[in-house]
Amino acid sequence: MNLLNATAISHSFDYELFSNISLHVSAGDTIAITGVSGSGKSTFLHILSTLLVPKAGNVEILGKDLKGLSEKELVHLRSHELGIIFQSHYLFRGFSAMENLEVASMLSHEKIDEALLQRLGIAQVMHQKVSELSGGQQQRVSIARVLTKIPRIIFADEPTGNLDNKTASEVMNIFNEYIAQNKAALVLVTHDESLAHRCDKIYHLENKELIQVK
Ligand SMILES: Nc1ncnc2c1ncn2[C@@H]1O[C@H](COP(=O)(O)OP(=O)(O)O)[C@@H](O)[C@H]1O
Ligand SMILES: [Mg+2]
Repeated sequence: MNLLNATAISHSFDYELFSNISLHVSAGDTIAITGVSGSGKSTFLHILSTLLVPKAGNVEILGKDLKGLSEKELVHLRSHELGIIFQSHYLFRGFSAMENLEVASMLSHEKIDEALLQRLGIAQVMHQKVSELSGGQQQRVSIARVLTKIPRIIFADEPTGNLDNKTASEVMNIFNEYIAQNKAALVLVTHDESLAHRCDKIYHLENKELIQVK
């Protein structure tokens, strides 16, 4: 069974962004979606990750058609099965980085992985308030928080946008190891070609179409 099937998705705001596009995600997949700014990458990722209902088409996650789920079931799916890493971080800004991870740890009943915090270079700042951290540090805290939840599917929108090349590369190492170990999947939106090439599959969003290029 695929982890995610998005079939014949169309969406428009002022104009049509994409029409009749499909994406299938299986366990172990690492998928990059590329395309120029404004091509609709973030919108498509919002649709895949349950945050936006498309104008047409179906999204099925872990065998469940999203259209058939109540708001409560959607919240449960998001908090237990999906890891959503978006530009707006959704961290609790008034709390420390560690407190943010503790919430995720309570949800998953998994311990916070100290080695992961070391690898991300945030172990020393975990007791600071999120609002006092730099953009890049916040980005790494949200990555650590999402992984602490042990999600089946990670959705990440430009997750390394504020990071230097070396840290960005380490984040990709961490994602790839996580996906392999947990039979999970990664759907990553990026305009960074070198990051995209660290994924097994690459899709390009252009002229309203989604085309597999790797
Ligand atoms: N909530 C919204 N309401 C109206 N227009 C939107 C909304 N979100 C995105 N758009 C428009 O849709 C287009 C694609 O946006 P987006 O999906 O963010 O593209 P990308 O992530 O590829 O840069 C842009 O022209 C953007 O202005
Ligand atoms: Mg975007």
